[in-house]
Amino acid sequence: MGNIGHAAVVPRHSGTDRIATGGLFDTSQQVSYDVNEVQRPDYPAPPQLPPVSYGNLTLATRYLLSPLAGFTNLPFRRIVRAFGGLGLATTDLVNARSLLAQNPKALELIATCPGDRPLSVQIFGSEPDMMVEAARLLEGQGVDSIDINMGCPVNKVVKNGSGASMMCRRSETVALVEQIVQAVRLPVTVKMRLGWDETQITAPEFAREFEKIGVAAIAIHGRTRAQGFSGTVSLDGIRKVVDAVQSIPVVGNGDVRTVADAARMFRETGCRAISIGRGALANPWIFRQLLQWETTGRYDPPGTFDDRLHLLRQQLAYVVELRGADRALPFFRKMAHWYLKSMQVPPRLRNEFQHAQTIEAAEAALALIVEHGPVSGNRTAALPDMHIPVPAGPIERW
Ligand SMILES: Cc1cc2nc3c(=O)[nH]c(=O)nc-3n(C[C@H](O)[C@H](O)[C@H](O)COP(=O)(O)O)c2cc1C
Repeated sequence: MGNIGHAAVVPRHSGTDRIATGGLFDTSQQVSYDVNEVQRPDYPAPPQLPPVSYGNLTLATRYLLSPLAGFTNLPFRRIVRAFGGLGLATTDLVNARSLLAQNPKALELIATCPGDRPLSVQIFGSEPDMMVEAARLLEGQGVDSIDINMGCPVNKVVKNGSGASMMCRRSETVALVEQIVQAVRLPVTVKMRLGWDETQITAPEFAREFEKIGVAAIAIHGRTRAQGFSGTVSLDGIRKVVDAVQSIPVVGNGDVRTVADAARMFRETGCRAISIGRGALANPWIFRQLLQWETTGRYDPPGTFDDRLHLLRQQLAYVVELRGADRALPFFRKMAHWYLKSMQVPPRLRNEFQHAQTIEAAEAALALIVEHGPVSGNRTAALPDMHIPVPAGPIERW
């Protein structure tokens, strides 16, 4: 990707991509686990599907990281990519207007490094000129693909006519997306929900129209805007989108946490790729597991307490590279929550870590966590799966 907005985009505290070179923050170590303590899972039949291409961009795997605002930043993407199995990652949603104004927050969202590929940047906005200019800017900076957010349910996005509210304005939305497709040579994809609510299931119609105007792929979260994150995904709803298109890939999304969930998504929807959000926070090994499953029929269990502790430290180090030690901890807390929960750390010690004001204090809290170990299970075996919550209250604060 070369020159993606160098000053703002390459991590401030690193001139190198340490994943590619190994070294201090190398995550290429094997996951350690005691085979005798791991319950062997069921192995559903893996999919037999052709490779997934977004236009000229052929993805190495059909397993994608779904955008999660506040989480799918460069430090997390570096962690997940190091395990292999990930076909494409997408940034958190980025406001097209803020990007054009070179707002530092927007620039941080598109921060990347040489190992962070292929990378799609997700933009949102409702003003065609801004969206087109933002797409051109991203193309100039070397991103691999541009994704248009048509699924975000939060009020502050939909009230301005962006995100999921675009699903309520058919011709205007199709015209906007077409302008973007025409403006860049990069593959342009759209991520949407099933529709605004159950009385307006517009995703199949949009998918059909989008394919006609040259959209390269559709990602579909199988819930309506009205559902937020409640209930379960409608696999039947996703199937209708798959049936609506002729040949472009449809990426099924929602509630995939395990290989068995992925098998069901493929089987019941006919989708060609799967994107995973929350499941990757709970289990950063999921993409590797899925690829192992597809290629060998089997897969390794996720990492242990010790493996997760290593990842937590590593991701924090990446955040320090990106933002500097002074601004790292507040940014990292959301993610730390997932690590500490999945490591089965007792609430008192989680609290200690989350209240640390300096990296030294965070390290001291980690030392106590290491001493204590997990509340159930042990340090070197697979831990019980964590419960994956749905956002409660405004998603921005989740
Ligand atoms: C905290 C959070 C932030 C999200 N941010 C985005 C976003 O920036 N763009 C987007 O298209 N979807 C976003 N989503 C939706 C996810 O990409 C995904 O569609 C949804 O979580 C269902 O998939 P999952 O069950 O694998 O998490 C977000 C979801 C959550 C929970």
